[in-house]
Amino acid sequence: MRFRKPGMAALLALAIPPLLGANDAPTGAAHVTSQRMRAPDAADNAGNWMSYGRSYDEQRYSPLTQINDRTVQRLGLAWYDDLQTYRGIESTPLVVDGVLYNVAAFNIVTAYDGRDGRKLWTFDPKVERQWARLACCGAGTRGIAAWNGKIYIAALDGRLIALDARNGKELWTVQTFDRKHAYSITGSPRVFDGKVVIGNSGADYGVRGFVAAWDAETGRKLWKFYTVPGNPADGPDGEASDGAMARALPSWHGEWWKYGGGGTAWDSLVYDPALKLVYIGTGNGAPLSWHFRSEGKGDNLYLCSIVAVDAETGQYKWHYQMVPEDDWDFTCTQPMMLADLKIKGRTRQVIMQAPKNGYFYVLDRKTGALLSARNFVPQSWASHIDMKTGRPVLYPGVHLTTTPQIMTPSLLAAHSWHPMSFSPKTGLVYLPAMEQSIVYARQADGQFKFVPFRINAGYDYVGATPEQGALRKKLQAQADAMEKGYLLAWDPVKQREAWRVPYAHPGSGGTLATAGNLVFQGSIERNFSAFAADTGRKLWEMPVGNVAVSGPVTYMIDGVQYVAVNAGWTGAIVANLGSGFRVSPARLLVFRLDAKGVALPPLPPPSALPRPPYLRASEDVVRRGAQLYGETCSRCHGDEARGGVKDLRWMTPQTHAQFLDIVLKGIRAEQGMASFGDLLDREQAEAIHSYLISRASEDWSDEAVGK
Ligand code: HEC
Repeated sequence: MRFRKPGMAALLALAIPPLLGANDAPTGAAHVTSQRMRAPDAADNAGNWMSYGRSYDEQRYSPLTQINDRTVQRLGLAWYDDLQTYRGIESTPLVVDGVLYNVAAFNIVTAYDGRDGRKLWTFDPKVERQWARLACCGAGTRGIAAWNGKIYIAALDGRLIALDARNGKELWTVQTFDRKHAYSITGSPRVFDGKVVIGNSGADYGVRGFVAAWDAETGRKLWKFYTVPGNPADGPDGEASDGAMARALPSWHGEWWKYGGGGTAWDSLVYDPALKLVYIGTGNGAPLSWHFRSEGKGDNLYLCSIVAVDAETGQYKWHYQMVPEDDWDFTCTQPMMLADLKIKGRTRQVIMQAPKNGYFYVLDRKTGALLSARNFVPQSWASHIDMKTGRPVLYPGVHLTTTPQIMTPSLLAAHSWHPMSFSPKTGLVYLPAMEQSIVYARQADGQFKFVPFRINAGYDYVGATPEQGALRKKLQAQADAMEKGYLLAWDPVKQREAWRVPYAHPGSGGTLATAGNLVFQGSIERNFSAFAADTGRKLWEMPVGNVAVSGPVTYMIDGVQYVAVNAGWTGAIVANLGSGFRVSPARLLVFRLDAKGVALPPLPPPSALPRPPYLRASEDVVRRGAQLYGETCSRCHGDEARGGVKDLRWMTPQTHAQFLDIVLKGIRAEQGMASFGDLLDREQAEAIHSYLISRASEDWSDEAVGK
């Protein structure tokens, strides 16, 4: 690592000697230590963004004030980097002592000079493109970690890779899961006092969730915590979770272990250095349907819960289950943050989360006791959370039957992985809220078939009879009409909305709060904007040609404050965005005050939507294609073939001609569309193609052009 200005060297010299332990890195590169992480706002650290949520409390709040509610109008683009992909970029960059570390699609990491974007090194872990098939929302990751001279990648294929932060050279690699099962990793690793902690994804495909801690210096496994029980006939796992699994077992029924059970912790992990606890946010069940997973009985611990474990040993401390009896793909892997809040005259150490189910939860983080819960969007799942038992009081009839019904929120969520921030100054939490609804039904008894490496929901996507099919369509139109998205400022003490900024659709990005009374967010309207943190008034905005879904960061080098964000659409699926939604290639964007002369290339021009080809298949084939599409493709391409990573209603004639080669031979694997040749035969792929042509014909009109 070379620093050209003496100012930076002086800053580093200041930061290092008094704090160094024996194992600390001799250079300034990624010099992240326990001492620094415990004092994130100290002079030497305030200009950094050293971990995913900036500080251990993951508040995504920066004390920097050069860019503030009075100066933000002078914000301009300082530099940008084209990330050479149209895939979604969900990652939060890290900035340590002048160097910005970023990770793009397929876990390719680049280190930049944070001032001007000069590239210092790039490391490509060469993830096999086939792994993209397990990532619903693009072959992305939400971040990397930095510690003691190293950068850590948790790759899509399960490798945990430590790099030398000075030059990007690989130091060691461990494989964190058995590749025989359909696991993947999209979450950001966290490092807590020398331990790299990471979970994984895959509940939708049928795996058993776990989180593990690895020694940050050597990659040695330290502990492993399963989130759901395995087959009782196999006995205990011999892992830190054994006691917790014995307690969870009575809440499961049937033969869930055959389908993995789920509970994957695919995003949020938070560490409390004072209590020495790691909080794990767990996901949905596998299969999604409670009926097929657990015979429609039992809470199914620890699905959709926050589980607190001892950071040293991984031993269970407490849990709070937000969604017992999960039937709706409600995950509780959404961002969690720690804060000290004054509630009823008493300062409480809390952990906060706004998971998919649309409720905002405040818990005592020492004990897991529920302090309050209120819905932050309209929802049709539970009338309230019973404060005595901590359990949701479900509306009657919310469990899935074979008859289609609307559920709000949908599996696409009231709030997904998109980072939320908290300003201790305003006392408000800022999150991208979504009102999305879905039509659910489960398959009839005897129809659910577990297929490894495919979505295993147990959901019906078609309607068992023509009448039910028609009902689905009618309900879907109702659900679409209710769709909304907005930036929400939420008061976690009063449990009520402070203000909101409405957008045309759901799907906007994560937020950043600063001491300059600002909140930054990228919107579905393809702008990057700054709002007054106290009032929500819009103070600055720039069109960026893409949706910055990831978490923005801010940092300071040589006395200049910067704001950086990755702008790369997808990573959140919006069903109803309209046809031909256009974006520029994904880019890392960096702003500072008074920056001039750097402009982004224009959006690609709109094009007329291609007329769909003539449908040559029978109604039966189309129906078969619809169910296969639902099971195999809808996770990425949207329910009813709308929206998603690429809208398959609007394929060009050339793509139609190549359809079978794309789907069965993987000729677009480099772009993130891997082969399904192991799951589908030619006839099934053709049935899906017929279904897509039929959907395109339903929705196509002569006037339709891109917007
Ligand atoms: C894990 C996510 C994922 C799944 C599941 C998935 N796809 Fe894709 N698919 C993608 C991505 C990403 C692209 C975009 C590639 C690009 O930009 O060219 C894509 C592109 C395509 C394209 C090219 C579209 C065009 O207009 O260029 C076709 C055709 C396609 N997918 C068909 C399917 C079918 C059929 C299925 C189900 C059998 C399926 N996909 C399942 C991720 C997925």
